[in-house]
Amino acid sequence: MAKVVITNRIPAEGVALLEAEHDVTVWDEAECISRETCLELIAGADAVVTLLTEKVDDEFLDAAGDQLKVVANVAVGYNNIDVAACEKRGVVATNTPKVLTETTADTAFGLMLMATRRFGEGERVIRSRTPWQWGMFYMLGMGLQDKTIGIVGAGQIGIAMARRAKAFGMDVIYTDAREMEASAAAELGAKRVDMDELLATADVVSLHCPLIPAGQDGATHHLIDAAALARMKPTAYLVNSARGPIVDEAALVEALKKGEIAGAGLDVFEDEPTVHEGLLDLDNVVLLPHLGSATVETRTAMAELAARNALAVLRGEAPETPVTS
Ligand code: DGY
Repeated sequence: MAKVVITNRIPAEGVALLEAEHDVTVWDEAECISRETCLELIAGADAVVTLLTEKVDDEFLDAAGDQLKVVANVAVGYNNIDVAACEKRGVVATNTPKVLTETTADTAFGLMLMATRRFGEGERVIRSRTPWQWGMFYMLGMGLQDKTIGIVGAGQIGIAMARRAKAFGMDVIYTDAREMEASAAAELGAKRVDMDELLATADVVSLHCPLIPAGQDGATHHLIDAAALARMKPTAYLVNSARGPIVDEAALVEALKKGEIAGAGLDVFEDEPTVHEGLLDLDNVVLLPHLGSATVETRTAMAELAARNALAVLRGEAPETPVTS
C-alpha cells in the first residue's frame, strides 16, 4: 500500500477510489491547510492530491521526499505547480481538464450576463432596500445579440464559452497562439485575430488562457494591463474566469472608475481570497468567489479524475491527463 495524502477536502467518491487501494490521509477541515501543516503532512507520501491553493515547488517536493511519484492536482489550471521541478525529480504532475469545461463556461457566461445586464447591481438595490421603480430608462444594460465576443485562449473552455455566446446571437472572434479546432471554428464561424484587434473590436473580452508567469514563453501575467484596457471600447466588458493575475487589478479598477470600459465580471482575483478594495466599491463589476467549476457533479468528476491519475502512476501506468512543462 502506498501513502497518499489529500491536502484538502475533496468529494468522497475520489477519496473512496484511493482508499480502495492505498493508505489515505485527508486534511479534513473546512479551512485550507496551512503551509506548515501541509509540509508536515506530505512527508513520506508516494502520491499527493493537491488543490489550487497548494504551491508545489522545491520546498514542497523536498518535504514530501524522494519516494514521491505523483502530484495530482484537482483543477485544470496548474499554475500552482512547478512542473519543471517535478519533472527534474521524476514526479508526474496531472490536472483535471475536460470534466469542468461546460461548468466553467457556464460561470463565464453567467458573469457576462450579470455584468452586461446589470443583474448584480439590480440585486444589490433590492437587497439594500433602496427605493426603486420600473422606468423606461432604469438600469439599462447592453444586449448581447449581434455583439462580438472576443475569446482570449481558444481551448476547450474558450470554445464552450463561444458556443454559448453564439447561441445568444453573438459573433465570435478569438486570439490564441494556435488555431481553434477546425470543426469548432467552422461551427462558430470564429475568426482568429491578433490581441490588439480583439481588444479594439470585441464588445465582451472573455479570458480563457492559462496563467503563465512573466518572463516565460507566452507569458499571460498582466496580459490585461492599463494599455490593454485602454485599447478596449468604452462600451466593452471584461470577463475573467481563468486566473486572477492575468489581469492587472489596480489598472482594472482605474479603467472601471474612469469609464474606459463599461464593466467587468470576475470569478478570480490577483491575490485570492483577497479582493482589491477598489473593486468592492464599484457598481459596474460583478464579483464571484472563484465558483468556476463549483457544481456537485463537476467537483465529483474532478476528484475522481485526480484519483484515477494518482492510482495510475502508483500502478506504474500512464495517467489520463498528465501535464508537462
Ligand atoms: C480550475 O480547475 O483550474 C478551476 O479554477 C478550479 O475551479
